[in-house]
Amino acid sequence: MTKDRVLIFDTTLRDGEQSPGATMTHEEKLEIADMLDDMGVDIIEAGFPIASEGDFRAVSEIAKRASTSTICGLSRANFKDIDRCWEAVKYAKSPRIHTFIGTSPFHRDMHNLTMDAMAERIHDAVTHARNLCDNVQWSSMDATRTEWDFLRRTIDIAIKAGATTINIPDTVGYTEPVESADLIRRLIAEVEGAEGVIFSTHCHNDLGMATANSLAAVAGGARQIECTINGLGERAGNTALEEVVMAMRVRGDIMPYDTGIETTKIMNISRRVAAVSGFPVQFNKAIVGKNAFAHESGIHQDGMLKNAQTFEIMRPEDVGLTETNLVMGKHSGRAALRAKLKDLGYEMAENQLNDVFVRFKELADRKKEVYDDDLIALVRQNEALEDHVKLVSLRVTCGTGGPADAELTLNIDGTESSVIASGDGPVDASFNAVKQLYPHNARLQLYQVHAVTEGTDAQATVSCRLEEEGRIATGQSADTDTVVASVRAYVNAINRLIVRREKSAPGIDRKEVNYKDVG
Ligand code: KIV
Ligand code: ZN
Repeated sequence: MTKDRVLIFDTTLRDGEQSPGATMTHEEKLEIADMLDDMGVDIIEAGFPIASEGDFRAVSEIAKRASTSTICGLSRANFKDIDRCWEAVKYAKSPRIHTFIGTSPFHRDMHNLTMDAMAERIHDAVTHARNLCDNVQWSSMDATRTEWDFLRRTIDIAIKAGATTINIPDTVGYTEPVESADLIRRLIAEVEGAEGVIFSTHCHNDLGMATANSLAAVAGGARQIECTINGLGERAGNTALEEVVMAMRVRGDIMPYDTGIETTKIMNISRRVAAVSGFPVQFNKAIVGKNAFAHESGIHQDGMLKNAQTFEIMRPEDVGLTETNLVMGKHSGRAALRAKLKDLGYEMAENQLNDVFVRFKELADRKKEVYDDDLIALVRQNEALEDHVKLVSLRVTCGTGGPADAELTLNIDGTESSVIASGDGPVDASFNAVKQLYPHNARLQLYQVHAVTEGTDAQATVSCRLEEEGRIATGQSADTDTVVASVRAYVNAINRLIVRREKSAPGIDRKEVNYKDVG
């Protein structure tokens, strides 16, 4: 049986980053793009260039540095968006313009466009994009809720106008596998010129079927899957890259498709995306969850010792999970730390490594065993050193029968100040102290604590999500002291909000750019 090639189109930096709270900094986007490029992603959708100055800058920079991936930008179906998109992607060795409009009755109503007017818009947009770039992707957004005849007509127009990839989005996660396969199969059979283009699937996970729907679309003839790392994305997220890639690999017997993905790089990028987006991976998430390869029940362990295949359909090392997660102790040296961090996907400059090494030694003194996840948490903390607001010191008194008091010192843009604040428990008191030293109106939307590893000396990872005037930022931190981790996460979220404020000031703010046309 010969294997067909399925292209992997990653939209972590566009559809994923668009998810409320998942905003990444410029440097983080570049880093994720480098990792995607390095792991063999065919097409990286790097952003929505008209949405903000920040998006434009990120897409252009990623376009300049990508080595093998095609770099794609998103644009609505109007000349202004398309021109801006081209301005950003044109630097890539292989650029792509992705243009779209919602074609279902809901979207036609929203745009106040008749079918004929929308058909003309599609023709003009794709023709314009093709005049700029040889590689143009068309998406009939909300395709799975678009009337069949009209959907076929939009695809027909896009192909005739020069689109080279046709994407069929299940924008609201409405379809199911049989329908998903049939839709692509029927379009390929009935649209003129279909054999000359690549059909693509883009599924959302609202009913938990994004992976199944994407694989079914491939069975129907799609040869591009749009997906994100960890399934990051709005609402219930997008198709998870790691799931479709590993499904096709593990079940190659009935899904004879190849991708260009180096699967051993999956774990590192998964951890990295979780860290920079502030969206932790659920423990029982397929492929990349903490428990995905853990075998705890007695029966399982017995079976595993006799033959790993009894309960494992893939090997942990296939997705980049190394044999043992126990890495270092307090006697480990700088060279060992550097090698381990490299293994985990972090290449560090000498001064960065020095900072991490100091923190590693501090942690190793407090904690008997230092695991991969501990090290990743340490590196993340180190990245916070560039921030406007930094935690200098914290001392909390609390107990039964009274409020807690927090004595806090922050460094804000180089100036240290201290305060004592009270609250209902140590975390509340500490957060009140932060608010007094750095007054703001951001609302705490989410506060979440997880243990990074096991035992009472484990580090706690804390996530805080803040909302301010529609801008959302998630901060994370880890420490063996839960209250310290909480304050660091809160301060990290504040720093991210500051970046968001700066980013949205000069251009068009992302929140103002929705799927409705700017005209
Ligand atoms: O979900 C969707 O329809 C999209 C399009 C812009 C492709 O993300
Ligand atoms: Zn989408």
